[in-house]
Amino acid sequence: MNILLTGGLGYIGSHTAVELLNAGHDVLVIDNLCNSSIDVKDRIEEITDKQIQFIETDIRIKEDIDNVFANNKIDAVIHFAGLKAVGESVQNPLYYYENNIAGTINLLQVMQKYNVKNLVFSSSATVYGTCQEMPLSEDSPTGAVNPYGRTKLFIEEMLKDLYTSDPSFNIIILRYFNPVGAHDSGIIGENPRGIPNNLMPYIARVSVGILDELSIYGDDYDTKDGTGVRDYIHVVDLACGHVASIDKLSENCGLAIYNLGTGTGYSVLEVVNEFNKVCGGKVKYKIAPRRDGDIAEYYASPKKANDELHWQAKKDLHSMCESTYNYQIKELNKNK
Ligand code: NAD
Ligand code: WQD
Repeated sequence: MNILLTGGLGYIGSHTAVELLNAGHDVLVIDNLCNSSIDVKDRIEEITDKQIQFIETDIRIKEDIDNVFANNKIDAVIHFAGLKAVGESVQNPLYYYENNIAGTINLLQVMQKYNVKNLVFSSSATVYGTCQEMPLSEDSPTGAVNPYGRTKLFIEEMLKDLYTSDPSFNIIILRYFNPVGAHDSGIIGENPRGIPNNLMPYIARVSVGILDELSIYGDDYDTKDGTGVRDYIHVVDLACGHVASIDKLSENCGLAIYNLGTGTGYSVLEVVNEFNKVCGGKVKYKIAPRRDGDIAEYYASPKKANDELHWQAKKDLHSMCESTYNYQIKELNKNK
C-alpha cells in the first residue's frame, strides 16, 4: 500500500517507516521538522536500502496538505504529527490545541475530500483518567489531566463522531504506553532537544556523561519498590503494531481502539538497574521529591491488540536499555 506518514521523521514515525518499508509498503512522509531532522530520511533509507518520498510541510497549512493528496496516490494515513511535551502544553495550551487539533481537522477534511478513508491515529495512555484499576483496558474510563492529554482525547472523540457520520472510514486509534529504545542499527532513536523530560532519554544522557545524575521522582509510592511503575514498550515493537494496524484496516475494520503496551510494569529503579548492567554502572541517581501530576503506576492490558491485531510486544527491558545506550553512544561519537 501507499502510506502517508504525518510526522514520519519523528521518533515513532521513523521506526514505523522502517517496518512498513520492510513489509513491502511504499512510504510518503510529511513533517515540518519542528522536532526532527532531515537526516532521519537518509537513515531510514540506509537501514532499509529503500527510498521514501519526503515533503517538508505543516499539517496546519491546508493548501499544502491538499496538494499532497492531489499529487500522490495515498491508500492510508498514519497520523503521528503532533506536539507531545506535557509541561510545555500546560505553559502554552493554545499552541497545542492549534497544532494537534486544528492540524488534525485539516488533515481529516482533506482525507475526506480525496476519499482516503483509512487512518491510524497516534493516541496515548495519557487519555486514561487517574485512580484506575490495573491493567488498563480500552474500556477503562478516560479523563486526561493536562492540555496535551486533552488534545489526544478530543481527537479521539472527533474521530468517533467522524466515523458515526461516515462509516466508510476505517479508523484505528492506538494508545501507546511508554515508548523507549531505538533501532538495532543505532542510527535512529529518540533525541529530544534540550534536557529530556522522560526517563529513558534522561538516563541515556547520564550514562554518557552529558548529564550528571538522574533525579528519581519519589520513592514513597505504593509500588513494588516505592518508585513509579510504567509499561515501557520498545519502539520497534510499537512500530510493528502499526504494520499490523495497516493490515487490519484492509479488513474494513470500522473504528477500533487498541492499547499498545507489553502488559508488564517496571519501576524507575528496575529501569536504572537494568541500564546500569548495559553501561557498566554509569547511571548515578538521587531520590528527589515526587513530580507534580505523576501517578504511582500504570500498565496496559494488551489483550485486545494481541487477539485482534495478532501483534505482541517481543522485546524485553534489557533490549530497551541496550538499544537506547547503543544509539546514545553513536549520537555522541557523531557529534565529536
Ligand atoms: P516526535 O516529536 O518525535 O514526532 C512527531 C513529529 O511530528 C516530529 O517529527 C515533528 O517535527 C512533527 N510535527 C509536529 N507538528 C507538526 C505539524 N504541525 N506538521 C507537520 N509535522 C509536525 O514524537 P513521537 O514520540 O514520535 O510521537 C509521535 C506521536 O505519538 C505524537 O502524536 C505523540 O503525541 C504520540 N505519542 C508519543 C508518545 C511518546 O512517549 N513518545 C506516547 C504516546 C503518544
Ligand atoms: C516515567 C517514570 C517518572 C524522569 C510521559 C507522558 C505521557 C506519554 C509518555 C505521550 C515516572 C519517572 C522520569 C526523570 C524520574 N507521552 N522519572 N526521573 O510521565 O509516564 O509519561 O511520556 O503521550 O503522556 O506524560 O513518562 O518517562 O516522563 O516518566 O524519576 O527524570 O519515570 O516520575 O515514574 P510518563 P516519563
